Amino acid sequence: MRWLISFALLVLVSICCDGVWAVRTESLTRELLKSARDEEFFDWLKSVRRRLHEYPELAFQENRTSQLIRAELDSLGIHYEWPVAETGVVATIGSGASPCFALRADMDALPIQELVEWEHKSKIDGKMHACGHDAHVTMLLGAAKLLKKNHHKSKGTIKLVFQPGEEGHAGAYHMIEQGALDGVEAIFGLHVDPSLPTGAIRSKPGPMLAGSSRFSVVIHGKGGHAASPHKTRDPVLALSMVALALQHIVSRETDPLEARVVSIGYVRGGSALNVIPETIEFGGTFRFLDPESHSYLKQRIEEVIEAQAAVHQCNAVVDFMEEKLIPYPATINDPVMYEHAKRVGESLLGEHSVQLNPMIMGAEDFSFYAEKIPAAFFMIGVRNETMHSIKGLHSPHFILDESALSVGASLHAAVAMAYVDGHARTR
Ligand SMILES: *[C@@H]1O[C@H](CO)[C@@H](O)[C@H](O)[C@H]1NC(C)=O
Ligand SMILES: *[C@@H]1O[C@H](CO)[C@@H](O)[C@H](O)[C@H]1NC(C)=O
Ligand SMILES: [Zn+2]
Ligand SMILES: [Zn+2]
Repeated sequence: MRWLISFALLVLVSICCDGVWAVRTESLTRELLKSARDEEFFDWLKSVRRRLHEYPELAFQENRTSQLIRAELDSLGIHYEWPVAETGVVATIGSGASPCFALRADMDALPIQELVEWEHKSKIDGKMHACGHDAHVTMLLGAAKLLKKNHHKSKGTIKLVFQPGEEGHAGAYHMIEQGALDGVEAIFGLHVDPSLPTGAIRSKPGPMLAGSSRFSVVIHGKGGHAASPHKTRDPVLALSMVALALQHIVSRETDPLEARVVSIGYVRGGSALNVIPETIEFGGTFRFLDPESHSYLKQRIEEVIEAQAAVHQCNAVVDFMEEKLIPYPATINDPVMYEHAKRVGESLLGEHSVQLNPMIMGAEDFSFYAEKIPAAFFMIGVRNETMHSIKGLHSPHFILDESALSVGASLHAAVAMAYVDGHARTR
């Protein structure tokens, strides 16, 4: 219903002031992109990104990253709050008055050993910016620099949210708990995409990414000699039946037109060829698009595991780890914010450069912001065959085309300025 009303409003607004908006936005965005592609500016973007890339830090340990962000903000003369959720930084540009728009970047890296041999390879063994969050931070600092130069042209306030712990640790949730969205009316975020060419962006209105939660399980049986199975209670067999039965929750209990996933990601247990082990451990993830599906899946996963274990005279303990690993809701783009960012993107990059994103069952903690206020999340292309930046996110071979840094910085700045500008004039 909220979408429907928003959409009707959008149509009205587009009919009234399309022409004026388009002309103003086009000259603004072109100017921003030109500045961000300027040689000196681009060299600075690259140096920031490479410094971040060399020292990747995991969730809630982003001390050095946070320090670099604050140093750059200091040198730009931009006021900020810190620490927010341990290492997070919230910078403010403008008067503090409404309209207030936020831009977001995530800061954390992954526990992956980088296998790309280049001058700025990760200097930390076993850690790598393989999801491009180094580029996200750089794009937002680039936007800070552009906005600082241009903010006198805008009336309202732009907040820059640098958040820790996106990779499974719900950093966004903790940022919101500590007030990062206070007074903020709408928010925009970007994620690099190595399947999309540099210079292109894409997104979709409504649901774009799934909600995500996890489970870990211990099945307790009775160990013993593998030659005397009748004297044991075999947790290996129990696990085998559990794994099969779990797959029926989606295939037999879910409307085929609704998207849900249940996957087992690890199994651990046993240590000898001729011993039935005492216990088996396993765990996985499940994905959904709404809170009802989340609670349904959770209930059924627990029931199926416990009941199947009992059939085999074993006992299962299921842990959803929700206190430590807060489940992510689905990422749902507000249609009005989506349309706003799409139009700014078209004026910045050309109409054909803005594509429709397919819905995928990956998850993003940007969803916590989108749950609270109108939000738009866009993918930004970093694929360039010549540079071999074609490997997927989370690959140890991940490479990104740094010329996307200028695109991201100017897109961030343009989306925020056009929003604040548009909303200040209609008040
Ligand atoms: C980061 O800084 C905090 C607070 O100063 C400190 O407690 C923590 O140990 C530091 N973490 C790392 C990984 O350096
Ligand atoms: C890819 O990179 C090469 C080399 O840096 C450059 O000449 C080319 O224009 C890039 N292509 C795109 C689509 O950006
Ligand atoms: Zn990631
Ligand atoms: Zn990511």
